[in-house]
Amino acid sequence: MKLPILIHPDPRLKKVAAPVADISDELRTLADNMLETMYDAPGIGLAAPQIAVGKRLIVLDCVKKEGEEPRPLVMFNPEVVASSEECNVYEEGCLSIPEQYAEVERPAEVSVRWIDRDGNEQQEDFDGLWATCVQHEIDHLDGKLFIDYLKPLKRQLITRKMVKLKREMARA
Ligand code: NI
Repeated sequence: MKLPILIHPDPRLKKVAAPVADISDELRTLADNMLETMYDAPGIGLAAPQIAVGKRLIVLDCVKKEGEEPRPLVMFNPEVVASSEECNVYEEGCLSIPEQYAEVERPAEVSVRWIDRDGNEQQEDFDGLWATCVQHEIDHLDGKLFIDYLKPLKRQLITRKMVKLKREMARA
């Protein structure tokens, strides 16, 4: 089932999400619905606060090449446990900030620990687009958006565009 995605600015996107205690069938269904919503958008990552659920859950799949096997990842309580000093700059976007893109600098490699959909602890190192995406999604769990890394003027400009977009969407 596809879920509606919150559009910035929304106070629910600014809240710190709560850790998940145990992985229920309900949470697994939520993760499946989030993946469906993300693929449909289309996007490469989605965090639970974006669909108005204040829980520490993200989904991602950064496989973009045609014909390559998809790799949907579901992460409960994800945590960056180590990051490289070396940084990467990517042009980022966000499903909650449609059609706005800006360059953000983040650690080029990160080691992430999380609980998978079967309740098992996992840890893996990510680089390239995966590293950027997983950090962007974990930020959502702390109420942080990629535009928070931009200069205030640029951030305000994007926010104003989003306010206008939401007004148009409400009217439609
Ligand atoms: Ni995002």
